[in-house]
Amino acid sequence: MENKKIKKIVLAYSGGLDTSVIIPWLKENYEGAEVIAVSGNVGQGKELSGLEEKALKTGASKLYIEDLQDVFVNDYIFPTLKAGAKYENKYLLGTAFARPIIAKRIVEIALKEGADAIAHGCTGKGNDQVRFELAIKAFAPNMQIIAPWRTWELRSREDEIEYAAKHNIPVPVTKETNYSIDANLWHISHEGLDLEDPGNEANLKKILIMCNTVEDAPNTPEYITIDFEKGIPVALNGEKMDGVTLIKTLNEIGGKHGIGVDDLVENRVVGMKSRGVYENPGGTILYTAHDALEMLTLDKETMHFKQQTATKFAELVYYGQWFTPLREALSAFVDKTQETCTGTVKLKLYKGRATAVSLTSPYTLYSEDMATFGEDDSYNQSDSQGFINLFGLPIKVKALLDEKREK
Ligand code: ARG
Repeated sequence: MENKKIKKIVLAYSGGLDTSVIIPWLKENYEGAEVIAVSGNVGQGKELSGLEEKALKTGASKLYIEDLQDVFVNDYIFPTLKAGAKYENKYLLGTAFARPIIAKRIVEIALKEGADAIAHGCTGKGNDQVRFELAIKAFAPNMQIIAPWRTWELRSREDEIEYAAKHNIPVPVTKETNYSIDANLWHISHEGLDLEDPGNEANLKKILIMCNTVEDAPNTPEYITIDFEKGIPVALNGEKMDGVTLIKTLNEIGGKHGIGVDDLVENRVVGMKSRGVYENPGGTILYTAHDALEMLTLDKETMHFKQQTATKFAELVYYGQWFTPLREALSAFVDKTQETCTGTVKLKLYKGRATAVSLTSPYTLYSEDMATFGEDDSYNQSDSQGFINLFGLPIKVKALLDEKREK
């Protein structure tokens, strides 16, 4: 049997119930196989404490904890921010771009360890299986992939809990009472339970972890400034900061003001619709600021073209196609547009909203002289007449001919 050949498996491990159950399951189903667990630190915070003990206790031979935070911010989050990419115009892609980065590191470890297979705990219904596996294929095209959720006999959370009990894996719950959460530096997503019916209003008071509800947000606005250099946020309130610190700080400030809570229904890669609540306080502030700065620094045609590519960029990220020629080519285009995206944005944070209230850039294309309602001597208003005559030529010709036909 094929199973016999698999001697070493590297598992994408989070320490949650799913991946905890997978370790003994792998050992049972791939006899004699060694299981090496890998956790990527993408800023999920406390989920990582006590992880090693847990992994070893359930049968892993070792646990790698890989700090990926800086790479996550600089090579995944900021390129997506610069692209202005939001999936279906709303979702800031927090889970989506965390998968390729983790998968890439897992492949590196699997190759170093001489593993025969990589296993993950994604279900067969979601996006994450697609994202993990596309990234694995990009770096280890021949690697075997084991996705127990798609094949095993455990059909529900209850089955898993029972299996865990039989194998002496401690589980904190006896019944599903928590939302399915995915947390990292960029966002927290919440799915499942009562949210599965879009007819139910989300109980935000109960759900939100990073953000205040709008009701609980302070009654006084707060002003901040963000400096960008070539599309990358580099300072908060004039203080230079690395990306990780900047995002963490903005999450705190934005969370306090209840900014970046999205309750939405999205189209998954596999086709079904799913409903989720997302917390993106820092991300929402950064997108608002970055978009605003581009209003000054991008010329009309580039801006409109970039908006079209943003939709495609978001699809590629959402679908897990990060390591593809098209995503790389789009990033090259985006980087060209960001050469002048430098400047300072002042924002007002108030009751769930971030509003850009002041913009300055050394590369601004805004000419007060041109735009002013007051007197100027750089724009000749009589030029407009000829322009409009030609711009309107097809409209006029059609109307004339229609008139003739109606007679
Ligand atoms: N629906 C979001 C996405 O596909 C979030 C998924 C959260 N993942 C999870 N395993 N709970 O990007």
